[in-house]
Amino acid sequence: MNLKQQAARKALSYVKSGMNLGLGTGSTTTYFIEMLGEKVRDGELVDITGVPTSKGIAQLAGELGIPLASLATVAPEQALDLAVDGADEVDPDLNLIKGLGRALLREKIIESHAKRLLIIVDESKVVEQLGRGPLPVEVVQFEAEIQVRWLEDLCGRAELWLEESGEPVITDNGNFLVRCWFSQGISNPYDLARLLADRPGIIEHGLFLDMVNLVIVAGEDGIQVKERT
Ligand code: A5P
Repeated sequence: MNLKQQAARKALSYVKSGMNLGLGTGSTTTYFIEMLGEKVRDGELVDITGVPTSKGIAQLAGELGIPLASLATVAPEQALDLAVDGADEVDPDLNLIKGLGRALLREKIIESHAKRLLIIVDESKVVEQLGRGPLPVEVVQFEAEIQVRWLEDLCGRAELWLEESGEPVITDNGNFLVRCWFSQGISNPYDLARLLADRPGIIEHGLFLDMVNLVIVAGEDGIQVKERT
C-alpha cells in the first residue's frame, strides 16, 4: 500500500453505518472512496449516503454502488456527519491549500456543511507555511484576464490554468482557474482570503482556513493523526 492508500484506510475507521458523508476529490480521496465502496458492497457499512464534491467523484462513487444525494437532501439540519478529502498543503494550524484537483468550489461548499472535516494526505503535503506551491483561484470566464493581471500584481506570478491542448481548464461550475505562485509563501492566509473573497469576479479560492478537525498524515515512519484543538 502506498502512503495515500494508508491514509485512506485509516480514514475508514472514522466512518460508521448511517453516516452522511462528504466525498472529496483527488487521488487520495479516490482510494478512500474505493475502500468505502468495498465496505458498502460487503455490507460492513450500511445506510451510507455520499455527497460528492465533483462530477468525477459522483461518477466513481455511483459506479461503486455508494448511494448519493445532494447536500440539501441529506443535511436538512445543515450538517453532514463527516467529510473526507485530500489536500495540496497542510500547515501547522491545519489550514490548507486545496483545489489542484480542480474541485475547490464544490469542496468548500460541501465541506463547510460537515460536522467534522477529515483530511487525508501523505507526508509530502505537510508544510511550515502555505504557499509552497500554487494557490488555485476560481474566476468567472467573463473578463478573466483582468483577474489574472490583478492576481499577478498581488502574488508575483499568476497564470490562467490551461489544458495540454492550450484551452483553459473549465471547472464543474463552468468557471476558469488561475494558479498563483507566492515567491515568499503566504504570510497571512486570513488577510489573503478576505482580499480574494471581496474581489468581484473571483468565485472562490483554495485556502481552507479553520475548517479542518482532523488530518491523517501517512509517512514512511507510520501514520500520524493531527487534531485541531
Ligand atoms: C481537489 O481539487 C483537491 O482539493 C484535492 O483534494 C487535492 O488536490 C489533493 O489531491 P490528491 O489527493 O490527488 O493529492
